[in-house]
Amino acid sequence: MNNTHISVLLHEAIELLKIKPNHWYIDATFGRGGHTRKLIEAGAKVVAFDWDNEAIEYGKETFQKEIAAGQLILIHESFSKLERALTKLRQELNQALAISGILFDFGTSTPQLMSAERGFSFEGDGDLDMRMDTRLGVTAKDILILVPEKQLVELFRDYGGEEEAKGIAKAIKAQSQPITTTGQLASLISSIKRRVRPGIHPATKVFQALRIAVNSELDEIGQALPAAFSILEKNGIIVTIAFHDGEDRIVKHQFKSWENNKLAESITKKPLQPTETEITENKRSRSAKLRALRKI
Ligand SMILES: C[S@@+](CC[C@H](N)C(=O)[O-])C[C@H]1O[C@@H](n2cnc3c(N)ncnc32)[C@H](O)[C@@H]1O
Repeated sequence: MNNTHISVLLHEAIELLKIKPNHWYIDATFGRGGHTRKLIEAGAKVVAFDWDNEAIEYGKETFQKEIAAGQLILIHESFSKLERALTKLRQELNQALAISGILFDFGTSTPQLMSAERGFSFEGDGDLDMRMDTRLGVTAKDILILVPEKQLVELFRDYGGEEEAKGIAKAIKAQSQPITTTGQLASLISSIKRRVRPGIHPATKVFQALRIAVNSELDEIGQALPAAFSILEKNGIIVTIAFHDGEDRIVKHQFKSWENNKLAESITKKPLQPTETEITENKRSRSAKLRALRKI
């Protein structure tokens, strides 16, 4: 398996978290541990979450030394459940585990996207699955079968910004056999889309929309932010990295509400974006927006 993931806005995120040596930080989205590694190098102790078991298994293997030294605890759980998971951990370890900062690097990792059989990618041909956590019940192919045409149109529009949602949903429902693979869906969309942007696969937006729906990504973020805020100590910092408007909008509104209620202050008046150099080196970073906030 390809285990390479280039961490986005790595230095900016670590800098903003203002690491205090030997204090505890949460990496809510461990992935391949790029941010976690830098946090530990800066002196932090880290509790890291990921709901993808492949990420956790990779972490156990690669961070053996740090785990043995008590610098890293890995938890296979969704970040919407981080409050409950931390309470359990505190009881198990009989430690206060005050949390000085929390990082969210939303979305998918490159290994998830590149693995054809997990169904996230329109390259190659794999089962149309798209679950980041295989304990989740509904796959992308189930959605195409179960969701009526009208709701599919809304899903492709709302979560993917797909302008040709209507035609695509109609074509999906008109198939004599259910679509079950990424290749079938990608070639159907390619065959009917009229407006195609050079360099962007015609199926990009529909794949994004299905991924967001399968993993309830926006609900996860909506639940995780208040949980993160409640477990954060005073003056603690939350850093988020969002990759599309749906994610960023939830963060922006939640941060604003805390600020209006004088519970927190924003550290990034405008979201930080990657430099041209970072975008050239890592195309995936191009849509990233980083926001940071301090609890007061
Ligand atoms: C962009 S990657 C993180 C990359 C990581 N920062 C690094 O540098 O290697 C996002 C990770 O978050 C995980 N993830 C996404 N949504 C999650 C959720 N609701 N709960 C837990 N993990 C989640 C994904 O499985 C993926 O591994």
